[in-house]
This record gives sequence, C-alpha cells and structure tokens, in this order.
Amino acid sequence: MGPGRPVIEDFGGKVAVVTGAASGIGRGLARKAATEGMRVVLADVEPAALAEAEAEIAGLGAEALAVTTDVSNAVAVEALAAAAYERFGAVHLVCLNAGVFQAGVSWQRTEADWAWVLGVNLWGPIHGVRAFVPRLIEQGGPAHIVVTSSMAGMMTVAYSGPYVVSKFGAASLAECVAHDLVAQGSEVGVSCLVPGSVDTRIGWSERNRQAATGSEPPSEAQAPDHYFVRQALQDMTSQTGRPPDDAADIVFAGVRAGQFWITTMEEDGYQALVRGRYDALLDHALAPSTGFS
Ligand SMILES: NC(=O)c1ccc[n+]([C@@H]2O[C@H](COP(=O)([O-])OP(=O)(O)OC[C@H]3O[C@@H](n4cnc5c(N)ncnc54)[C@H](O)[C@@H]3O)[C@@H](O)[C@H]2O)c1
Repeated sequence: MGPGRPVIEDFGGKVAVVTGAASGIGRGLARKAATEGMRVVLADVEPAALAEAEAEIAGLGAEALAVTTDVSNAVAVEALAAAAYERFGAVHLVCLNAGVFQAGVSWQRTEADWAWVLGVNLWGPIHGVRAFVPRLIEQGGPAHIVVTSSMAGMMTVAYSGPYVVSKFGAASLAECVAHDLVAQGSEVGVSCLVPGSVDTRIGWSERNRQAATGSEPPSEAQAPDHYFVRQALQDMTSQTGRPPDDAADIVFAGVRAGQFWITTMEEDGYQALVRGRYDALLDHALAPSTGFS
C-alpha cells in the first residue's frame, strides 16, 4: 500500500472539487461524484459549458456549485478553494483535471504556446495543490487529491513537447506531494490519473485559448506538425476513446483500491508501455517514441 492508500471508502455526503468539469473526463468525474452522493464544486474556464454542467449535476439531485476558474491563475484557484469552503465547509476529493493540448516541434513553438500549455497543465495542478492541501490538512481526517496527467506523462513522443513536458511535470508533482504527505503523517492521499484514450474534446482544446490567454494558436502554416498531430488526437479519441463515465468509474475504483497510478488503459497495454520505457532507461537508451517517429 503506497501513498495513494485508500482514505475514503464512502463518498456519500462528502464534497468533491473538479477542475475542467465542463467537459470530458472532468464532467464524467462530476457526474460520478454526484451519483456517489457527493456535493460537487465544478470549476472551468468555459462559462457556458460550465453552466450546463452545473445544471446537469443539479438534475442528478446533487448540490452543485460552479465557479468560473482559470486554473493557470493562482488568484483564481485560491478563490475557488475559498468558495468551496465557504459554501460547504469542507472538501474531501480534489480532482486537478483541467488540461489542454498543443503539439509541435519543441524548438519551433512560441513562448506563448509553451506558456499556455504549461500554465494550464502544470501550473494548474501546482496552484491546486497550494490552495487545497493546507486546507485539507487543517480540516483533518481523510481526503484525497487526484492529479490528471496522461500516458504522455510517462512516455515521450515526437511533435508533442509542450504537452509531454507539462504532463511529466504533473505526474512528478503528484508523486512529490504524495511523498511530502506521507513524510508528514497526513491522512490526505494522492493518485495520479494517466488516461489512455478517452472520448472528449481534448483535441479541440484551442476553443478556450484565446479567451483564457489572449494568445492565438499557431496557424497551420506556422505549425503544420501541430495540425497533423491534433488531427491524429481527434481521430483517436473520437474513434477509440472510452466514454468519460467509464474513466470516472475507474478513477473512483482506483481511489478506493488505494492506487497511486490510476489508468484507463487496458492493463497489458499499460504494462508494456511502462516496461518499454524503463527497459530503455536501464539500457541507457532513448526511450521509444509512442508515435510519429
Ligand atoms: N481525452 C484523453 O484521451 C486524455 C488522455 C490523456 C490525458 N487527458 C487529460 O485529461 C484531462 C481532461 O481533458 P479531457 O480529455 O476531458 O478534455 P476536454 O477538453 O473535454 O476537457 C477539458 C476541460 O478543461 C477546461 N479547461 C481548459 N483550460 C482551462 C483553464 N485554463 N482553466 C480551467 N479549465 C480549463 C476546458 O474548458 C474543458 O472543459 C486533461 O488534463 C487532459 O490532458 C485526456
């Protein structure tokens, strides 16, 4: 049993906070939390979709609070935590899940491209940890954090530098926070979610970029590699992705089972990928790219 040890068996009556709750995996997590009898705080940067998600969760009979939040903004994430505590007095499950995708040859991507992806996918969870963990510790008793990384946080791939760097960062953040909590004898547990392909709008992430950052995505002429990788991601998630509700079931089962690494991949595929990476490291070799090279 590791730092992801089971700390919550019964979620009924407890409080969940989900970032990126307006779509995809986050929306699935919010629905799952509601059907487990939790009260749900939904955070997202896309206000209209967030309002729809809040109505859906309320329609399931759960108390819901929607807080428009840009997770790349520390002040906004602190305000999210304050709003959750003000409304419900406690939080027990925090899913730091919001994420965006941007591909491209690493040295050709602009500072704005890197800043957008690292801002949401890495600073988002960092801000979440800094805002919520002190409150979870102070409130006392069991609580759990789930950081959404990716298989791209365990393996590297061509043409996807910003995303891969952000997801390795999110995964190692989850590990470090878990170690810190164990070292301090805390009852707060941590899991790192590494989804395989899930049928969501991750391949259309740019829909929120300009409103959130003011920066435009690169044009197809500026970053053709971004566009073909994005197309491959759109095809993969829409054709082979699991439904987000399945992913959410897997997350809750993984938290209950005390898993630190929770994956939606088939077990044999997960094992083969992880072994392939660490075998290469033991051979002092560059680990194989999981695509495009
Ligand atoms: N779908 C997959 O196959 C897959 C695979 C691996 C990892 N992931 C990860 O799963 C997580 C959820 O993504 P998804 O696949 O459900 O995609 P999605 O686009 O359907 O949902 C992501 C949500 O995050 C929100 N968001 C974007 N920027 C934000 C910001 N600055 N602040 C707050 N919210 C913001 C979006 O509005 C959206 O509602 C992401 O971290 C993603 O990297 C997804």
